Amino acid sequence: MSFPFGVDYYPEHWPEARWATDAQMMQEIGVNTVRLAEFAWSRLEPREGRFDFGWLDRAVDLLAQHDIRVILGTPTASAPPWLMNKDETLFLVREDGVRLSYGHRREYCPSHPIYHEHTKTIVTAMAEHYRDNPNVIGWQIDNEFGDRCYCTICRERFQVWLGDKYGTLATLNDAWGTVFWSHVYNDWSEIPIPLSTAPSHNPGLALDFKRFASDVYVRYQKLQLDILREVSPGHFITHNFMGFRFDQLNYFELARDLDLVTWDNYPRGFWNMQEHVNPSEIALGHATMRGLKGKNFWMMEQQSGPGGWDIVSVTPRPGELRLWAYQAIAHGADGMIFFRWRTARFGAEEYWHGLLNHDGTPGRRFDELKQMGLELKRVGDDVLGSTVNAEVAFLLDYDTRFAFQVQANNPQFSYPEHFATIYGAFHRLNVPVDIVPPDADLSRYKLVLAPALYVLPKGLVERLEAFTKAGGTLLTTLRSGVKDETNAVVDLPLPGLLAELCGVTVQDYDSLPEGVSQGLEFTNEVTPVGEAQADMWCDILTPQGAEVVARYTANFYRGQAAVTCNRAGDGQAVYVGTAGNRALYDTLAPWLLRLAEVSTRADTQDGLEVTERTRGNERLRFILNHSDEEQRVTAWGHDLLTDAAVEGEVSLAPKGVLVVQVRETSA
Ligand code: GAL
Repeated sequence: MSFPFGVDYYPEHWPEARWATDAQMMQEIGVNTVRLAEFAWSRLEPREGRFDFGWLDRAVDLLAQHDIRVILGTPTASAPPWLMNKDETLFLVREDGVRLSYGHRREYCPSHPIYHEHTKTIVTAMAEHYRDNPNVIGWQIDNEFGDRCYCTICRERFQVWLGDKYGTLATLNDAWGTVFWSHVYNDWSEIPIPLSTAPSHNPGLALDFKRFASDVYVRYQKLQLDILREVSPGHFITHNFMGFRFDQLNYFELARDLDLVTWDNYPRGFWNMQEHVNPSEIALGHATMRGLKGKNFWMMEQQSGPGGWDIVSVTPRPGELRLWAYQAIAHGADGMIFFRWRTARFGAEEYWHGLLNHDGTPGRRFDELKQMGLELKRVGDDVLGSTVNAEVAFLLDYDTRFAFQVQANNPQFSYPEHFATIYGAFHRLNVPVDIVPPDADLSRYKLVLAPALYVLPKGLVERLEAFTKAGGTLLTTLRSGVKDETNAVVDLPLPGLLAELCGVTVQDYDSLPEGVSQGLEFTNEVTPVGEAQADMWCDILTPQGAEVVARYTANFYRGQAAVTCNRAGDGQAVYVGTAGNRALYDTLAPWLLRLAEVSTRADTQDGLEVTERTRGNERLRFILNHSDEEQRVTAWGHDLLTDAAVEGEVSLAPKGVLVVQVRETSA
């Protein structure tokens, strides 16, 4: 298989007479894979039970004539009016109790039995129709699963889910502490769904609901997956995820049943009207998506122009589209599909630009991605299947993420933001990292960063202990070990189950007002990089065997420990008692890497990113210039894209990319 390169294509939006021109142009720029049909329910089943695959067959055949393979989307993310008008209860109910109405997409209740029935019908019909089509290679289920539904059907399902989890009401009442404010439940049907019309819910109930609401989509996806696997075997099955920032679903669980993770990457969406895009933010998305299954992923929607529905985003700068696409590959993408082929002339996404303009003409964006398509045609095979290998892992915990959504602890604190801040320091040092779930095997890593392990099960503590005992270095931060799995506060000195491993106790803490922070004073071991500050939260630490690494410089706890390091087995556990700013982690990251004996890939200027993919003895070094300036970089090997030798210092244009096959001797 050649490197999958292509576009999301909506033939149903264009006159059929145009399709041949499109297919021809696609072929010319190296397109070999196209996603079709993921919002086409009303064209595939125009009336209940009446199917029309003729147009899609013709599109698939035409693309086949141009050597373009097809991924088919199941169209369930947007249902036709004939279905949604059947019953008002088909519509999702928001957290504030308001039921959605027709006119957008993703309007359905994911638990609804009628929706499930119609899902089975359309998915089965598609799977039967395309199972033997040699030009179909895979399925994408639905589109960007998302919002939580708070309707009465979901409430009943939640009650059943709780019954399965807790067995008896006595266990549930005890786990949640329902005696508080007299919430003791005598019957499962009394348990509410946490609508925002009750301003503050029992934290145990609130966390369980978020787990349940995630599980609802995992199950809805499984409903489709089982049909596709059975009826249409031999095709890969994926879903298009939304990167690190999306936080309503447990993405590890959603990915588990799939063959492949794909995701949708829009560095310049309309929500981000900034001149500069932060490369580490995009890289974190890739690392997270690679982490979901611990293997390479595909881009299913990679930005191909300014994004916009009602307003238009900053237009991607010359070179950025290609740069971001290579960045994805640099982090493990083994497929590159751009959203979308041609900019739509109608519908809510008229301003979400594709490779082609509204009028079907090519321009700057087209030329840029054409260059990439032709490059990948030549060098794709050298890249496919090579992997990113990391000695550093970040532990991402959705229970903790959900629990912080229930209780932020400090109004400024955000778990994803805190996570991304720490990640950024390692990204700036060009250290490859894996993002792993709490049940991951940690033994292959030297350094594990586990920010704010708020909801902490005993099993995880035991794994972390085994990791440090065997010589690993662990970092954890504020509010770790505060909660048990029921989201109740532990009956232990903090950081709870981690106190022994970290050799420290939290004697007191201070939640800081907005804009208030204080400096940190480091011991000699650590060289400050910039002005490290304690922000948002200060755990006032009493070492119980740990050494002090940094102290607070202000307030009644001035001079007391803020950061500690404890020898644990052959390794060490570092506790950071504050959220901290970027400089704190720029200071700690090099020190942690030294402690863990992890070497960095390259010391680079700001705006330059260096990553590697390896296969056997072969190493591919991606050097990406995110800056607006020409940069001097040093490399030895063979530049795949220009097919020329690189010997020492070369210049890299703004937004330029080098993919260097590194000679063994130049390590
Ligand atoms: C994605 C979605 C696409 C399209 C795109 C642009 O999130 O999957 O269907 O809507 O955004 O808005």
